[in-house]
Formats: sequence, structure tokens, C-alpha cells
Amino acid sequence: MYKKKQMVEVEILDLGDKNQCFGRLNDGMSIFVQGTAAVGDTVMAEIFKIKKKYLVSRFRKLVKPSPHRIDPICPYFGLCGGCKWQHMDYSEQLRLKQKQVQDALKHIGGFSDVECEPCRPAPELFGYRNKMDFSFTDLRYLSPEEIKHQDTKNSKLGDLSALSAASVKKPLDFALGFHAPGCYAKAIDLDHCDLSTEAMNLALNTTRAFCLHHKKELPIYSTRSHTGELRNLMVRQGGHTGDFMVNLITSTHKPELMQELCTDLVAALGDRLTTFVNNTTTAKNTASFGEKEFVLHGPGFITDRLGDYTYRISANSFFQTNTAQAETLYTLILEMAQLKSSDVVYDLFCGTGSIALFASGHCKKVLGVELVESSVNDARENATRHNVENCEFIQLDLKDIKLIEDDMRNFGHPDVIITDPPRAGMNPRAVKMLKKIAPPTLIYVSCNPASLARDGQMLCEEGQYQLVSCQPVDMFPQTNHVESVARFERT
Ligand SMILES: C[S@@+](CC[C@H](N)C(=O)[O-])C[C@H]1O[C@@H](n2cnc3c(N)ncnc32)[C@H](O)[C@@H]1O
Repeated sequence: MYKKKQMVEVEILDLGDKNQCFGRLNDGMSIFVQGTAAVGDTVMAEIFKIKKKYLVSRFRKLVKPSPHRIDPICPYFGLCGGCKWQHMDYSEQLRLKQKQVQDALKHIGGFSDVECEPCRPAPELFGYRNKMDFSFTDLRYLSPEEIKHQDTKNSKLGDLSALSAASVKKPLDFALGFHAPGCYAKAIDLDHCDLSTEAMNLALNTTRAFCLHHKKELPIYSTRSHTGELRNLMVRQGGHTGDFMVNLITSTHKPELMQELCTDLVAALGDRLTTFVNNTTTAKNTASFGEKEFVLHGPGFITDRLGDYTYRISANSFFQTNTAQAETLYTLILEMAQLKSSDVVYDLFCGTGSIALFASGHCKKVLGVELVESSVNDARENATRHNVENCEFIQLDLKDIKLIEDDMRNFGHPDVIITDPPRAGMNPRAVKMLKKIAPPTLIYVSCNPASLARDGQMLCEEGQYQLVSCQPVDMFPQTNHVESVARFERT
């Protein structure tokens, strides 16, 4: 009989669902271990949930490290929901990413006979992100040391680690950073992130200092009361161009304060600051998407380069977050699409038209489809600036299958569809639409293996399509996320 709070020793055999580790106890009982264990570790874990066929526990102590275990470089590792795999060497991260895709295809999609290719490695393991999205919260997430310190009346600062000693002085009702896993109301107050660039960290700290100084005039937006101003800080830096954007998302626009912040950002970043925009929204969520935009410095957009193309990127527009690896991804998409010069191509969920432009020189014409207005405008501008005349972009919601049917009649039936939906995958109606349009080749680009497997299963369930290949690509080193490109052929 197992009991809650019981400590057990277990060897980690595999990764399970939701980034939990998996092992088996001596009597054969399955156990999931949450926290920073790694495959190959032997750990002490504390049981907190007991089910008939399995236990769920928390990692408490390392008994014997996996040969792939390394020291994480980030002091926030284990607290922050960002880099969950910093404690594994890169070869192990790649192995697990490939396995994640392979397992999803097999167990969710039912594709047991498709061998997934090894995951393509990224050229940079840190500092690779061209966009960071930090959240403001009025509940700062406390580390276990800080909680201990608060509970121990006579405790001295000297008892704590360097990180905690600094953070003890921080207010409890202000944080600008990332959410802790499973704790959406709170955020860890970060002063840097190893996935971002030095300039991004500088913009983060400059904005924090300004907002703390103006705490009364700029209260943090509360998701409980839906009052307050400060919501998100998004920073973007073109991976190839170095162009730099700061985008502060607030509830309303306060012209004088934003001008003051602009002065601080220019003083800190100098010529590196390309543009500063303030986006406002009345939405009752924390998405960093603006309804109104106020440009305080520069043109209101940045540019970045992928291959032979430079792209205009506005604050609300989607752009792949790892510039160097986006080139690998797009080259791979073209390889897998095997385009012919006579092909009509659809680029669904096209963002700023980056895949469409890459494809435009290899086919007859491309129709890009995208929901967000600023992305569609950027896509059109990006085609124009490169004198690309065989791409058309339309703004529509891909849940609305009727609309695309009209556009399809005008543009021509596709030979190849490239679809690159958000994490949740495609709406079932959109998958049905694909089956109705039935192009000979479908390329599915996915940042979520489970969505790829689910939508792929739906595409293939009546035998109309078959999955012929799948290539994972690592766009997000140190995290448990993986991108993949799958080729489906009409039978
Ligand atoms: C993963 S991104 C891909 C963007 C682009 N293919 C690229 O590589 O940069 C997904 C895109 O789908 C768009 N999107 C989300 N929901 C949509 C919908 N219902 N209809 C059309 N586009 C949508 C988002 O705005 C975003 O630009």
C-alpha cells in the first residue's frame, strides 16, 4: 500500500505526458515524476496522488544522475516555465524531441509504420530568440527559499542564496517575467533570460525600472478584477538585421508616460532601438495582442532576413521566433513539397507571407491565407518589396470554409497546400475543407506533435491520404517544444 507523502526511489525510464518523467517501482507499479528529473536519473520522489494503476509524485532528490544530465546555466531553472530541459545535454534533447513526435504519431495518430527522421539540430543553443514576451503580474512568484524566509521570523538575509537575497528586497505585488508552470496568476520577476539577447534583457530591465518608479500611475492589470494598465512587454530583435522593437501592451494609452519611457529606452539602447510602440487592448485576457497601436519612436515595425528575403514585421504579426533555424525549416518545407514550376500552391496560416515568398520562385503562384490583418498587410508589403508578383494574400478565418471556396474558384485549384496552424492545430472544419479540396500533396508544419497526429489521423482515416514522411526540427533548444514538417500524399 502506498501513502501520500511517502518517499520512493525510482529510476527514470522515459518521458511521459505533459513533460512528466516515468518510472516503475520494484513491484511493477508505474510512477510519474514531476519536476526536474531526467531520463536515466535515479531519484527520490514524494508521492502526492495514488491511482489504481499509477502514482504521481514530485522529484525531491537526485540519487544517481543520468549520463546526459548537465548543470543548467539559468538561476531560474526549475521555477520558470520556459526552459524545462536545460538539465539535459543537447544530444538527449534531440533524441527526446524525435521520440515525442514519433510517439504522438503512433499513439494519437495511429501511424505505427512511419519512421520519423532524427531531429534537425539548431545552430545556436542560447540567445537564439528574436522575440520575447514578458508578462506583468501583481502577484510575484516566490521561490521556495523566499517562502522559507518569510515563514522564519528570525531568519537573516545571509541564510539565503544570492538570487533569493536580491529578490527578498523586491516588492511582492510587482513582477515582470514568465509564469511559473501551472501558476498562471503569478510570474517570476526575471532580470534576464538566456534565450534572449543582451539588448532584450536591457530593454526588460529599463522597462521594469520605469514601471516600478511609476507604479501608482501605471498599476498592473489584474486578471481577477480586470482593472489596471500594464499587461505585457514584447521585445523583438531581428536575428540577421539586429533591428529592435519594444512593444508595451497596456489597457489605455498614457501619452506623457509613454513618451517618458521612450526617452529612457533611447537612453539605454541608443541607436539599437529601431522602434517603440504602445499597443492598447480592452480584452479580458493576457494575450499580447493590441487593438490600437501608438508609435512613439521609429517606423512601428522592424525587418528581418530569411534567405534572400527581408520581411517587414509589425508588433501584432507572427514571425518565426528563431531566425537562423527558420531558414532551415523553410528550406526543408521546400524540399519536402517538391514543387514544380507549374504548381499552384496555397500557404495556409501564412503569417507575414514568409513561406509563400520562399516558395514563390519554385512554382506558378501562391495564395496566402491569414486571419490577422497586420500580418496580411506585412505579407503584401513583403511581396511588393521583392517584386514578387505571383503571390496573393487574403485575410480570412480558416474556420470559415465557405469563404476559402470562393477564393479558390478565383485563384485556381491547388496542387500543393502548405498548412502551418497555431499550437492547437486545425479546426476540424478546416481539416474537412482540406479533404474536400484534396490537393495531391499536403505539407503540414506543426509546433505541436499532438495536433499534427490528431489532424493527420483525420486526414488519413478514410484512406484518402497517407503520411509518407515526417521530419522534426529543433526551433526551441532547452525547451520541450519541437517543430515538425510532415508530407501527406493523396492515394
Ligand atoms: C504558426 S503561425 C505560422 C505563420 C507562418 N506560416 C510562418 O511560418 O511565419 C500560425 C499563423 O496562423 C494565424 N492564424 C491563427 N488562427 C487562424 C485562423 N483561424 N485563420 C487563419 N489564420 C489563423 C496566426 O495569426 C499565425 O500567423
